[in-house]
Amino acid sequence: MPARDARAKWGYQAHADEVGKLPSSFPRTIGPNAMAYLQEVVDSGLTVDMMGRFERAFAEAYGVRHCIATPGCTPALAVLAAAFNFDPGDEIIVSPVTDYGTVQGLVAEDYIPVFADTEPGTVNLSAETIQPLITERTRAILVVHKTGIICDMDPINALADEHGLIVYEDACQAVFGEYRGRLAGTLSRAGGFSFDAEKTMGGDVGGCIVTDDDELAERLRFMGQSRGARQREGFGRMHTEPGYAYRMPQCTAAICLAQLEIIQDQVAQIDRMVRLLSELIGEIPGVTPLPIPEYMGMYSAWMFGMSIDPEQFTCTADEFAAQLVDEGVPGAGTARYYLMPEACTFLQRWASERRYPYSMPPASRQHSYGEDTCPTAHEFLDTWIRWATFCEKYTEEHCELAARIVREVADRNRR
Ligand SMILES: Cc1ncc(COP(=O)(O)O)c(C=O)c1O
Repeated sequence: MPARDARAKWGYQAHADEVGKLPSSFPRTIGPNAMAYLQEVVDSGLTVDMMGRFERAFAEAYGVRHCIATPGCTPALAVLAAAFNFDPGDEIIVSPVTDYGTVQGLVAEDYIPVFADTEPGTVNLSAETIQPLITERTRAILVVHKTGIICDMDPINALADEHGLIVYEDACQAVFGEYRGRLAGTLSRAGGFSFDAEKTMGGDVGGCIVTDDDELAERLRFMGQSRGARQREGFGRMHTEPGYAYRMPQCTAAICLAQLEIIQDQVAQIDRMVRLLSELIGEIPGVTPLPIPEYMGMYSAWMFGMSIDPEQFTCTADEFAAQLVDEGVPGAGTARYYLMPEACTFLQRWASERRYPYSMPPASRQHSYGEDTCPTAHEFLDTWIRWATFCEKYTEEHCELAARIVREVADRNRR
């Protein structure tokens, strides 16, 4: 048995120990109207509908018919999973390199996550990696736009149409990012967002779902905000489905509304800086930044990542990252923990013990999870280094400094 691990940290606490010469997203830049909106919540005695105001403002900014606000993206995706109402044991094909929040709702509904491998050289899945996994039990594809790089959605949607599958997006790391002129989160049936403290649009613990599907939107409100209850005349609440009380708190909505007023300028700055940084890092032999596909418009980068070529250096990626930290790159490290089939040890256990829903029925075949579930992603993450979240505070000088540090560490360890 390994020594007992400490509980995982979140929000600022996850970054509190990071020091360095580059900007940190903490303390967060908060929109100038936040205090006025918070004051309204308090002064009104909780009678203002700040959540509704945020929903309308976000839907308008996003050009969609509906925004359903939640207390995070984990709840947003859980509500979507519940709303789709698939059967236990049904399979959802999902990105393997992501946060647990992508997977939680699938698990809660007793669906089976089937992790598609990544496209070589990236952290995202593709139509090619999804296609071989489609079975008669596949019901949906849940894509993640990891680090803000948007998956190539046209081929994924075409493949899904061929097989009658729903596609939906975890757009947590890509708020206001663009794919062929359209916004991340609007490229499929629905998209989930996170406004947790660490995210690009940091708003404490918020999130939302966007969709143009009227029927789905109504069902999401019913399942996610009304707890699956209907108001029956002469009786009161009838709980016709097991829904959630996942409403965005009014104070969070006040902060999110203020953040929405400043986010697009911030994303434009992030886009300029991440492209500059990628260019500078790309000039260093043996170091390759994540490729920015030509179909991307605005690149809303939540994180900057780069691969190092093990053939060219005498050190491991972990050692390389540790030296970056020593030289002032905050939070640099490899990120193997993002590989869900490896990180979700409970899934490995359930599948190997054939625990429900991995028993047959409801599953129709044996599933297993581990480091070899997605070999391309596993190998890629071995030599992929990223540092603490990218943010609007980066200037050209910061990008030049970051590239200089990476070059120095690379040259020091060159074979
Ligand atoms: C890709 C992705 N999905 C889901 C989540 C969960 O979001 P939240 O913290 O709002 O529940 C995160 C947050 O880190 C994320 O990065």
